[in-house]
Amino acid sequence: MAQTIYKPVSYSRIVFTELMFPNNANFENKIHGGVLIALMDKVALACATKHAGSYCVTASVDQVDFFRPVEVGDLVRLYASVNYVGNASMVVGLRGEAENIKTGSVKHITTSYFTMVAKDERGRPKQVPGLILETTTDIRRFMEAMIRKDFKLQSKVRYEQKVAELNIFESLEQLKRERCEIGFDID
Ligand SMILES: CC(C)(COP(=O)(O)OP(=O)(O)OC[C@H]1O[C@@H](n2cnc3c(N)ncnc32)[C@H](O)[C@@H]1OP(=O)(O)O)[C@@H](O)C(=O)NCCC(=O)NCCS
Repeated sequence: MAQTIYKPVSYSRIVFTELMFPNNANFENKIHGGVLIALMDKVALACATKHAGSYCVTASVDQVDFFRPVEVGDLVRLYASVNYVGNASMVVGLRGEAENIKTGSVKHITTSYFTMVAKDERGRPKQVPGLILETTTDIRRFMEAMIRKDFKLQSKVRYEQKVAELNIFESLEQLKRERCEIGFDID
C-alpha cells in the first residue's frame, strides 16, 4: 500500500538575504518593486521545491503590497515557509524585511503568498508531501490559507457573475462618481 509522505514545515523553511545595489534602483535610490517580486518568486520556488522534492511553477501570487520603500544599501531579508499544501499545490508565505546596515534598524516591507504547483517529469501536476505542523503559528498559517483559498474562490465567482451581468450603457451613471470622462460621442 502506498504511504503518504509528510514533511515538517521546518524542513523547507528558507531565509534569504541580499544587499541592494544601485543597479536595482530608480532615480530616487529606491529599489524597484519588480526586483523584489522576482527575488520573492525565486525564494518561494526554492522553498516549495524543497517541500515537494520536485520542481514547481508559480500558479498565482496573492497580493503583494509594499508597506515601506527599500533603499539602496539596505539588506533585504526574505523569510519563506510552506503554509499550506493541497494536492499538487502549496502556499508559500513570504515576509520581507529591510535592514539599514549602518543603523541596524529593520522595517517590515511586505507579506505575501505564492501558490506554487509541483510538476512531474512530464510536466503534469504532481502530488506533494503532506505538511507536519510543528507550532501553533504553523496551525494558524495553515488555517489562514484555507480561509484565503475559500474567499478567493467566492470573490472569483462573484466577480465573474458581475462581469457577465455588466451592460456598459446601463451603468454609465456610475462613471459620474469616478474621475473619468467620456472623450467621444457615445450616442
Ligand atoms: C498552474 C498549472 C500547473 C495548473 O495546471 P492545471 O493543469 O490547470 O492543473 P490542475 O487544474 O490540476 O491544478 C493543479 C493544482 O494547481 C492549483 N491551481 C491551478 N491554478 C491555480 C491558480 N491560478 N491559483 C492557485 N492555484 C491554482 C489547483 O487548485 C490545483 O491544486 P491542488 O492540486 O492542490 O488541488 C498550469 O496552469 C501552469 O503550468 N501554469 C503556468 C505556470 C507558470 O509557468 N508559471 C510561471 C509564470 S511564467
